[in-house]
Amino acid sequence: MRIVNVPLGERRYEIAIGPGLLNGLGKECTRLKLGSRCAVITDTNVGPKYAKGVKSILERSGFHPVLISVRAGETSKSIRSVGDCYDQLAAHRLERKSFIIALGGGVVGDLAGFVAATYLRGIDFIQVPTTLLAQVDSSVGGKTGVNLKAGKNLVGAFYQPRLVLCDLDTLSTLPEREFRAGLAEVIKYGIIYDAAFFRRLELGMGKLLRRDRSALADVVARCCEVKAEVVGQDETEGGLRAILNFGHTLGHALEAISGYGKYLHGEAISIGQIFAARLSAGLLGLPEEEVTRIQMLFKAAGLPTEVKLSASQKQRLLAAMQLDKKVSAGEIKFVLARKIGKVEFGQKVPKALLQKTLMLQPSNLNQ
Ligand SMILES: NC(=O)c1ccc[n+]([C@@H]2O[C@H](COP(=O)([O-])OP(=O)(O)OC[C@H]3O[C@@H](n4cnc5c(N)ncnc54)[C@H](O)[C@@H]3O)[C@@H](O)[C@H]2O)c1
Ligand SMILES: [Zn+2]
Repeated sequence: MRIVNVPLGERRYEIAIGPGLLNGLGKECTRLKLGSRCAVITDTNVGPKYAKGVKSILERSGFHPVLISVRAGETSKSIRSVGDCYDQLAAHRLERKSFIIALGGGVVGDLAGFVAATYLRGIDFIQVPTTLLAQVDSSVGGKTGVNLKAGKNLVGAFYQPRLVLCDLDTLSTLPEREFRAGLAEVIKYGIIYDAAFFRRLELGMGKLLRRDRSALADVVARCCEVKAEVVGQDETEGGLRAILNFGHTLGHALEAISGYGKYLHGEAISIGQIFAARLSAGLLGLPEEEVTRIQMLFKAAGLPTEVKLSASQKQRLLAAMQLDKKVSAGEIKFVLARKIGKVEFGQKVPKALLQKTLMLQPSNLNQ
């Protein structure tokens, strides 16, 4: 088992990474001196596979868990689901000392984290992420929240878990497309922070795609280390934390204009990161051969590297980028790379360059 520390003073916590860790969940809850009542929030895909086991592991350590299941999918990240969870917590008389376990992907983690942040003004919670994306990204760092009709993640709180438990065995049941989508965030850490890690990914992508245990352990641990370091320096995104949004400005816009659900988040940010790499070549002198390496690595991971868009879709994409949450005072700021492993945030990009780079995407005039 590997342990990564998230250095946040009084709110510091550990990320445990390894196979078979679910079996130790009860002991961990005891070690953290959590109250006896708890709720395991999960979804309709993950619940049938893992919730029963988690419940009995907790019971064996003397806890009294209740199960709360939401429908699998992004639509469960809603105010309505939050309300349903509160009602069930209250019905089962969870109190200040009780705690919540988020058992699932990023949807469950964001929802359950927000419920924990707000129920009785905040109760303890533990992240048990079961997707690659959640293990390397969403379960770490304390961003919790839900969507509104007006947009994604518009309501939320910074609220740190007491522990993150990444059981690598849970990834064995993850659908192939979801696994590859998680790799888009993995590759991102190489680009924004660690050139040697990027190189290791280039050499070891085959093993990773076969979900080789030790390759997975290395990769999840390194990604968590990078995220922990960044969040440790800038918990509430005053500055540095913005580098985690590399490729996300275009990625989010693409998700929005194509109707949420067409592209998985990881697929959209794969295209978005290649776009950001092209902008970086134009503005920060990212060498062309590094743009190519970036593109090749996403391709090797089985991720999309371009989209076919009509001229009008490109216009809508530009407009959607302007609506991104990260826009301030009407200006789109990008995270751009100087070289693989080194990025700068808050980069203004002239609209003309944005348009020109977008035009490099293939057109499909029939659309
Ligand atoms: N809080 C953050 O910092 C942060 C960061 C990145 C993304 N996010 C959020 O994360 C969400 C996306 O997370 P996600 O990609 O994990 O999606 P998800 O939670 O919807 O999971 C993807 C799918 O896989 C299923 N699944 C999960 N684990 C499984 C397993 N072990 N075996 C079989 N099926 C399994 C789920 O039921 C779902 O159908 C988005 O809402 C995004 O906004 C949050
Ligand atoms: Zn992301």
